[in-house]
Amino acid sequence: MTQNHTLTLLPGDGIGPEVMAEIEKLVDWLGENTPLSFTLHRDDIGGAAYDKYGEPLSDETLEKCRASDAIIMGAVGGPKWDSVEYDKRPEAGLLRLRKELELFANLRPALVFDALIDASSLKPEIVKGLDILIVRELTGGVYFGQPRGIEDLGNGQRRGVNTQTYDTYEIERIGRVAFDLAKKRRNKVTSCEKANVMESGKLWREDITKLHASEFSDVELEHMYADNCAMQLLREPSQFDVIVTDNLFGDILSDEAAMLTGSLGMLPSASLGTPETPGLYEPVHGSAPDIASQGKANPLATILSFAMALRYSLNAGEHADKIERAVQDVLNQGIRTADVMAENCQEVSTTEMGDALIQTLNQQLQKAA
Ligand code: IPM
Ligand code: MG
Repeated sequence: MTQNHTLTLLPGDGIGPEVMAEIEKLVDWLGENTPLSFTLHRDDIGGAAYDKYGEPLSDETLEKCRASDAIIMGAVGGPKWDSVEYDKRPEAGLLRLRKELELFANLRPALVFDALIDASSLKPEIVKGLDILIVRELTGGVYFGQPRGIEDLGNGQRRGVNTQTYDTYEIERIGRVAFDLAKKRRNKVTSCEKANVMESGKLWREDITKLHASEFSDVELEHMYADNCAMQLLREPSQFDVIVTDNLFGDILSDEAAMLTGSLGMLPSASLGTPETPGLYEPVHGSAPDIASQGKANPLATILSFAMALRYSLNAGEHADKIERAVQDVLNQGIRTADVMAENCQEVSTTEMGDALIQTLNQQLQKAA
């Protein structure tokens, strides 16, 4: 039976359009070789949208996203828009999309592929087999708290203000996602905050503790201050299974966890809300303006994000497995983009990496036949 899915593709800025082109290849391949079929909407977000519509996410684009089964994004931002006011900056488009669709749960897996073990700046014995899932709260905290702004104090001084707030329901719902996912993994959750200095952190710890006692006492729970977590990630990352944390700490800790794996260019993410809302899938890396339009970008993070879309939004987990296997295969063949290039490997461009992946998928198909 053919299953048709509507996808909105938002390439965005910098290397976004280059990595998204490889997703289109993959979508075509799936359409030809599996029962899946896709209707694609292509639209703008970030600086590209600002240049075209004067805002980084238009209402029409938002509604198109809302009506689709999943949204695949490239990246937003770049120096070109550095002087644009805050609410029109490229990043504001992404934040609005997350907020309006209430995509409160951001899943950021940090997985070390055996073939890339030497790309990590840590010793191989420390990162071998690493498999951590960061569950970042995405629609609350200091990213959205009020009041915010820059005030003029009138005495030649100005004051920058941001506010961290968390309500119990926000902590509980992200906690539930983390505990549920831990059950399907190694059954351990590390909850990170700064309960030693922040009231929002104290509430976070209390609410997670209560939730654990009432619904998830069969999962191992550990509390950790976020600064200690940053240190433990470098010291002994294998102690972690699922890390659940707030929006800002999650932003920082997920970049750190990503780098343990060798390259930000490998790390996918999924942002999920209620079952009724479409998920948003994007690579953890940014728009990398320094290498944009040079064919150097690693498309694998976006490809792995697309695999997450198949798994979490399109109920097509077996095809996600297939893509993840193909990524592993390609890396095992020594095919690498510049960011993870190693001795005796073959350096390829963004499009060549996409082609290698399709070729590997074809080989898998022939083998299965
Ligand atoms: C991320 C990014 C974003 C964030 C930016 C682009 C707004 O760093 O997804 O981690 O801070 O959340
Ligand atoms: Mg970030």
